Amino acid sequence: MSTARPEDEVLGKAYDARLARRLYEYVAPQSRLIALSLALMLTVMAAQLAQPYLIKVLIDDHILKHEARGLTALATLYLLVFAVEMAARYAQLYSMERTGQNVIQALRNRLFAHLQGLDSAFFDRHPVGRLMTRVTTDIESLADLFSSGVVSLLGDSLKLVAIVAILWWLDARLALVTFTLVPALFLLSVFYRGRIRGAYRDVRRRIARINGYLQEEISGMLLVQLFRREGEDRREFDAINRGHRDAELRSVVYESSFSAIIELIGTLATALILWYGGGRIVTGALTFGTLVAFIEYTGRFFGPIRDLSSFYAVMQAAMASLERIFSLLDTRPAIQDPAAAAPPLSPPAAAERGPRGLIEFDRVHFSYRPQEAGTEILHGVSFRVRPGEKVAVVGATGAGKTTLVKLLIRLYDPTEGAIRLDGVAIRELPLRALRRRIGMVLQDHFLISGTVAGNIAFGDLSLPAESIEEAARLVHADDFIRRFPAGYAESVRERGSNLSVGQKQLISFARALAYDPEILILDEATSSVDTETEILIQDALQRLLRGRTSLVIAHRLSTIVGADRILVLHHGRLIEEGTHRELLARRGAYARLYRLQFAPGEEPERSAAAPERSEAGFIPGPDPA
Ligand SMILES: Nc1ncnc2c1ncn2[C@@H]1O[C@H](COP(=O)(O)OP(=O)(O)OP(=O)(O)O)[C@@H](O)[C@H]1O
Ligand SMILES: [Mg+2]
Repeated sequence: MSTARPEDEVLGKAYDARLARRLYEYVAPQSRLIALSLALMLTVMAAQLAQPYLIKVLIDDHILKHEARGLTALATLYLLVFAVEMAARYAQLYSMERTGQNVIQALRNRLFAHLQGLDSAFFDRHPVGRLMTRVTTDIESLADLFSSGVVSLLGDSLKLVAIVAILWWLDARLALVTFTLVPALFLLSVFYRGRIRGAYRDVRRRIARINGYLQEEISGMLLVQLFRREGEDRREFDAINRGHRDAELRSVVYESSFSAIIELIGTLATALILWYGGGRIVTGALTFGTLVAFIEYTGRFFGPIRDLSSFYAVMQAAMASLERIFSLLDTRPAIQDPAAAAPPLSPPAAAERGPRGLIEFDRVHFSYRPQEAGTEILHGVSFRVRPGEKVAVVGATGAGKTTLVKLLIRLYDPTEGAIRLDGVAIRELPLRALRRRIGMVLQDHFLISGTVAGNIAFGDLSLPAESIEEAARLVHADDFIRRFPAGYAESVRERGSNLSVGQKQLISFARALAYDPEILILDEATSSVDTETEILIQDALQRLLRGRTSLVIAHRLSTIVGADRILVLHHGRLIEEGTHRELLARRGAYARLYRLQFAPGEEPERSAAAPERSEAGFIPGPDPA
């Protein structure tokens, strides 16, 4: 249920040259922005470091010497330097963030396009939630690499070195005293940073669990309410939620004690400087201005140390994310275009020669998990569908009917045997060309959010409105679509949840018709609709199939009887083949099924006209003979 698994958060090396080199490909186009950011960073630093010195000059050379001349100029300069610092800081942060966001955007587009090329078997193996994490959270943690990563590392280190040098130059002994606090500060920072990041990781993991639970609960609310699982689920959710609160509180404890301790060390440093430096002023070894400058510089010294302590963890998280992102980018799709495509068949001649599309299955074996023994779903299936022929496939639930269809459009490849289209193995055909020739109506009518018209024109966005309406009219969808308040512009919710089953079916038909494929594959839905809609659907089907080679996974008696040939699939094997009459006359599995399911003691023609009976699924039993 949880979208983040423990292994999503395993951390390793903070620097991996191989990953950094691959990231460089995405960073290189941003080199001008990075150079700009570096230049701005140096400006910020110079302006920051000039300020305490200006104060020192102001105190020592003017205030203490009662010298009023130049005061105005110095104060104005101080203000100016400060203004420069602010402007440069703003531009620096912006350009750095922008670099990061540009890199992230490019990488995210790349991932998206890569996901589109992956095959169904890949998506069977990888849960949606984890893939979402790659494209969102993992890429997000790269943003940290830019905002608090490399450039700030460089900036902070430079600043530290500069401050140490300046303090040393101002007064070496006072500098040494001040530096005694640095190791303590650094160690405490490293300790707390580690804890804080760990706590945040925990919080993120628990938020992912909350999201996962919530998603399942909301989408299954009907089931929850029906089976009165509310109380139980509330308790489960409460446990997850409580865990999240505790994790959140742990992070707050670390965060607040960390900032308190940093404050404490800062005050300690000031006290040390006042105590030791004050003594040296009394003996005349130190000027008052230098003391003030010291306090100012130390204040600017602790920030970078605090930030540097987090650098390691940021790098570590970014590398772990990069590792996962690149390993996803490295997955090669199992279904790919052939290296050298078969010569294209000449399409213009097709119209003259009548329907094309000879489908051949040649001893096809298939398993969804070929590595595991005993998982084979199809055991050597062979058949042909001649151009223009309508072939129906019947068989029990789980017999492998939908699987046959998935193989034909190459969502998966057979483990053995070959599938040919007009004599050419489909492995040799470019995927786009193959899928352009084959239209498909799926078992669960897949609609997308958008308009009704958009759903019909799904395969060809340039389709004119007349063609969309023409397709809808032919399959009898026009009537109910026009009755929608917005007609063809009526919005369809995700997965078509605001439409009835019959409406979804007819819209899917219209979509297939508008696509106008040579070969049509129809995986009939098993859910029933009312008699009137049933008659509409049957007629729509006839129009859809007319003049096309078609393979229909049939659950309706009318479709079965209307087919030129029927294939009976049983546990992944074809056990009978023939027309409705031939198969009945054979008195085998099909005849038995037919008797059991559709028409005890009736003539086939008459029962074909009885749609209220036509929804029963076929369940072939063993041949009684
Ligand atoms: N993605 C998948 N991964 C693993 N096994 C699968 C997958 N899809 C289907 N199966 C298995 O393959 C077998 C055949 O499924 P298939 O969908 O082809 O059945 P079907 O004949 O279309 O059934 P129905 O009439 O219910 O639609 C079933 O045992 C099913 O559990
Ligand atoms: Mg099926």
